[in-house]
Amino acid sequence: MANPPTPKSWISAIHAYVPGKSAGADGRVLIKLSANENPLGTSAKALAARAEAAAPSRYPDPDSKALRAAIGQAHGLDPARIVMGTGSDELLNLAAQAYAGLGDEVIYVRYGFSVYDIAARRCGATPVVAPDADYGTDVDALLALVSDKTRVVFIANPNNPTGSFLPKGEIARLHAALPSDVLLVIDQAYAEYVAPQDDDGALALAEAHDNVLVTRTFSKIYGLAGERVGWGTGAAGIVDALNRIRGPFNVTNSAQAMAEAAVNDRAFVESARLHNAETRARFVAELEALGNHGLRPLPSEANFVLILFAGKLSAEAAYNGLAERGYITRWLPNQGLPQTLRITIGTAEQMADIALGLREMAEQLK
Ligand SMILES: Cc1ncc(COP(=O)(O)O)c(C=O)c1O
Repeated sequence: MANPPTPKSWISAIHAYVPGKSAGADGRVLIKLSANENPLGTSAKALAARAEAAAPSRYPDPDSKALRAAIGQAHGLDPARIVMGTGSDELLNLAAQAYAGLGDEVIYVRYGFSVYDIAARRCGATPVVAPDADYGTDVDALLALVSDKTRVVFIANPNNPTGSFLPKGEIARLHAALPSDVLLVIDQAYAEYVAPQDDDGALALAEAHDNVLVTRTFSKIYGLAGERVGWGTGAAGIVDALNRIRGPFNVTNSAQAMAEAAVNDRAFVESARLHNAETRARFVAELEALGNHGLRPLPSEANFVLILFAGKLSAEAAYNGLAERGYITRWLPNQGLPQTLRITIGTAEQMADIALGLREMAEQLK
């Protein structure tokens, strides 16, 4: 028999991305708190813009010009230094592909976003994984792994799945200690959830230096996960490199129209941020009250909380119990975190019910 084509060895070594589930094991549709989507949905203005989008029979604007102008305006950035992606996932992959290849190293933290591993391997580079500091990003541990083979460093701030956040000083320290020919990718998928006064300074770093790419997404606070829109900003050379290799029509007509309306609806973003901050604070306080049962919520600046289970109630049992109660959350054994559950912040009622469910489960096992 003729030999079939063989994928490259580094492609076969990839563990495919595991998305958050939408249904329980029995197929029952559950309230989905497994993918960090916006429980408030989408801005009404963005929904209205969908009807005004260019006809689906027409290719979209390949340069997303109006959308880049709107993003530039909202963030005080030069639109010429903004590159659009089919979700920020596309840009993370392109960043690795443009700057790393066989024999090169790509660094990220142990409990980081799982796409970094795929992005590194996909272009044949060697992933190098830095140890965490109590689940958070450890700048010194990342820096200790930098070698002359390092081409790209990925960090998410806030980080997924831990929710941890590096303040501005730590981000600046990381950048200052990296060689100038290493690309620092600061993935800000959850940046809009951070209080404005706690801004980590990443956009300013990307504006001022030649080796920083910041990525953002419309999938989280903007409630447009299904439209697949992300953007990145960095030096002209970085934007040019990514533009050369992105899909030529990588943001659809409806996505461009909806994202433009969404980025202009600052009131929706602000109300979603405040809703998240208040609901998360209440949820975390309720979880902290279960500390005697071994539950420990990690501090989070994002729209989810990672809970450690060190008592009689295991993360797996809690995951199953919450599914019984109607909620799908994220149990993370395949990210090396079998003792944890990541729960997206939903509505206030949902989070109160989840906290109650966890309390009932823990108390039953006393
Ligand atoms: C840290 C982080 N970066 C990037 C993404 C990708 O988002 P998208 O491709 O939808 O923009 C996610 C999604 O979960 C994420 O958690």
